[in-house]
Amino acid sequence: MNICVIGAGYVGLTLSVTLASLGHYIQCIDKDNNKIQQLNNGFIPFYEPGLAELLEVARKNIVFTSNTVEAVKSSAVIFIAVGTPAQDDGSADLSFIYSVLHDMYQEITTFKTIIIKSTVPPGTCEQIYQKLTELGVSPHLYAIASNPEFLREGKALYDMLHPDKTVIGINDGDTTTVPLLQSIYAGINTAYVITNLAGAELIKYANNYFLATKISFINEIARVSDKYQVDIQHISKAIGLDPRIGKEFLKAGIGYGGSCFPKDLRALEYLIKKEQINAPILHAVQQINDTQINIYVEKIKKHLPHFSEKVAVLGLTFKADTNDIRNSQSIPLIQQLATIGYDVHVYDPKGVIPKNMESLATQHPSLAETVEGSHCLILATDWPAFTSLPWQEIKKAMNGLFIVDGRNIWNKKEIESYGFTYIGVGRP
Ligand code: UGA
Repeated sequence: MNICVIGAGYVGLTLSVTLASLGHYIQCIDKDNNKIQQLNNGFIPFYEPGLAELLEVARKNIVFTSNTVEAVKSSAVIFIAVGTPAQDDGSADLSFIYSVLHDMYQEITTFKTIIIKSTVPPGTCEQIYQKLTELGVSPHLYAIASNPEFLREGKALYDMLHPDKTVIGINDGDTTTVPLLQSIYAGINTAYVITNLAGAELIKYANNYFLATKISFINEIARVSDKYQVDIQHISKAIGLDPRIGKEFLKAGIGYGGSCFPKDLRALEYLIKKEQINAPILHAVQQINDTQINIYVEKIKKHLPHFSEKVAVLGLTFKADTNDIRNSQSIPLIQQLATIGYDVHVYDPKGVIPKNMESLATQHPSLAETVEGSHCLILATDWPAFTSLPWQEIKKAMNGLFIVDGRNIWNKKEIESYGFTYIGVGRP
């Protein structure tokens, strides 16, 4: 099938490459000419495991271009996968979606199915209808569906090929869009959930909200278990064995980050306030996350009372297997440590410290240089490379004995056996 995908971010690109590998002919559009050039040279502009290799295989079925008009003209199916970043008031910025509609509306002269992949507030697909009507496009010439994505960065390809569900929101009486999408995704084994447009839009928010709630819940219990000398990992394991709870997203630590959870929860909070709905859990989840770093910083201050000493931070990205540092908890951690006066040094296998933070911390190309002479070593991101460290060598290289495990990936007893003081939350 001839398919146009608008947006070559990690969602649009993963979708494009996967659909091309399934045999569809894909035109993948992005306004960023630089990005298009890189993609045409086979280079993926961000780190996503496996994507470059699959692109290589699917290369003959995919074209990267900035020409929206031509791509829309020649495609019957148009996926919109552009960003919807948070605005200052927390609401989702839909301007990229509207700009796409402006670029393409004149090309809707033969029947098109427009599928919204971007995370958008409930009611957005309805507004898209109104917008296209205002622009003079006949409603007989298109159908709209909401088909949200549930891809994790770093595992996007796996999630695309092995989804736990595929959610499709359609208008009442639309009998063609579901079979069309099912034929596009033929070859991917998935459970379909069919709902109305706002239903699909809201499912996406509810999914992220629930996952973020699990994280904040376990971080709250970690605060309690800290006081009672209980290991939070025992609690996660035990409650996770209850199939009604499930073991995923119960890892306590410095909190969640990334380009999705913080943004989507804020967007939902904006909507809930606007609609005057009482939703106290939503606020509490964010409040716990926003204050989680403080608990670690207070413990560091207690153990390291000389506030000019060198501290080494391992990890800048919001999680492992990505170079994405957006809303990473590592950022406020570094900011707080630098504001206190510590000499902050950082290492990350893929993430790069932003220019505006270079005065706060020094990034090194290796873990060894980062750790050298430090009084405290802090784990901020659970990169596999940090899982088992040569503690004897680290002890020799460091000037102090404090180890802060912000992700609960280290063995406390083992670390203590080297003479270190292990600091965590919920790790007696
Ligand atoms: C998230 C969702 O998991 C995807 O399903 C969704 O499609 C995506 O947002 C999106 O909306 O596009 P992602 O942002 O890539 O995916 O990251 P996650 O793997 O969900 O992790 C989010 C944060 O939670 C990370 O900072 C991670 O370190 C943290 N986390 C995760 C914990 O602190 N504890 C856990 O137990 C699990």
